[in-house]
Amino acid sequence: MISFEASKKICSPKQAAKLSRAVAPFLYQAHVVGLGYPATIRVAAITHQPRASRQPAPSGRRNFSTTSANQLRDVFPAKDTAFIRRTPPAWEHPGYTEEEMLAVTPGHRPPETAGDWVAWKLVRFARWATDFATGIGREQQVDMKNPTTAVAAEKPLTEAQWLVRVIFLESIAGVPGMVAGMLRHLHSLRRLKRDNGWIETLLEESFNERMHLLICLKLGSPGLFMKTMILGAQGVFFNAMFLSYLISPKITHRFVGYLEEEAVHTYTRMLREIEQGDLPKWSDPSFEIPEIAVDYWRMPEGKRTMRDLILYIRADEAGHRGVNHTLANLKQKEDPNPFVSEYRVGEEKHKPNAALKPAGYEREEVIG
Ligand SMILES: [Fe+2]
Ligand SMILES: [Fe+2]
Repeated sequence: MISFEASKKICSPKQAAKLSRAVAPFLYQAHVVGLGYPATIRVAAITHQPRASRQPAPSGRRNFSTTSANQLRDVFPAKDTAFIRRTPPAWEHPGYTEEEMLAVTPGHRPPETAGDWVAWKLVRFARWATDFATGIGREQQVDMKNPTTAVAAEKPLTEAQWLVRVIFLESIAGVPGMVAGMLRHLHSLRRLKRDNGWIETLLEESFNERMHLLICLKLGSPGLFMKTMILGAQGVFFNAMFLSYLISPKITHRFVGYLEEEAVHTYTRMLREIEQGDLPKWSDPSFEIPEIAVDYWRMPEGKRTMRDLILYIRADEAGHRGVNHTLANLKQKEDPNPFVSEYRVGEEKHKPNAALKPAGYEREEVIG
């Protein structure tokens, strides 16, 4: 295997980077066969070099290279400029305590109205299609009578299957918040009305989902087939969300709530497989997670394993689940967003904590 260190001795850092980019595709490739086509993904391997002993990045670059340079093409390398040192995330993450993250559980809000049923069945279909397209075998399925809460399967997924699944899903998950935020923004402009604090939460959700995607892309880079699937899926999904939010924002928020139930389920199952040692690379506590993730959640020293990373992502998904189920219960045009509001009375009783309420809050609980 050609390492970054070895490359440095025989050529300049620039040439070494070029060389490692050129050979990376041949080093560790995994094929996931679904729909009869191979979805290729390059999976980052473990590095046993302790974080503290890493070489400083050349010319002030972020030091991602120890995990990825010899294994994985960096899909979005930081641009070196004469003046700018780094660009931190514009939306600072509020962070979680470990207790909060461990309290997250998979959950399901039983559909009540006809709109709920439509949203739920659409998500069921999307899950079936994702399982089919990513080649999930029968023995890798969980109990389909409880598809959102059961996390045990006969056979674990492979790391490559997990990456194909989460990269595809995260590329989709960033769409609804942006569409909803954009449409509410335009509605406010053309109707000359206040929005009551929904737009920021929705845009922040889509930003957060995009961060998940960028982090996953540091763990594995998709091949041409998968990139094409992502492109097509965005074209279809963006337009579907746009029309559906214009027709019924309530049903659309419910749909996103159900989609986020799937996300919490997915990451809970992944956590279980990591903890059981079913995923050899990610179960290894010395697996280096991407620096971009450490920065974004300000992950404390000693709590930077793959398990910790998934705990953070899962807590975010639980937040989206509770927020969207709650927003679906509100009057879309007049109710303030309870998640950013200050309360007149009983703040500790009425202020919602979305991550801990899988089914979301009813209108009377948070609006009064
Ligand atoms: Fe996500
Ligand atoms: Fe999400």
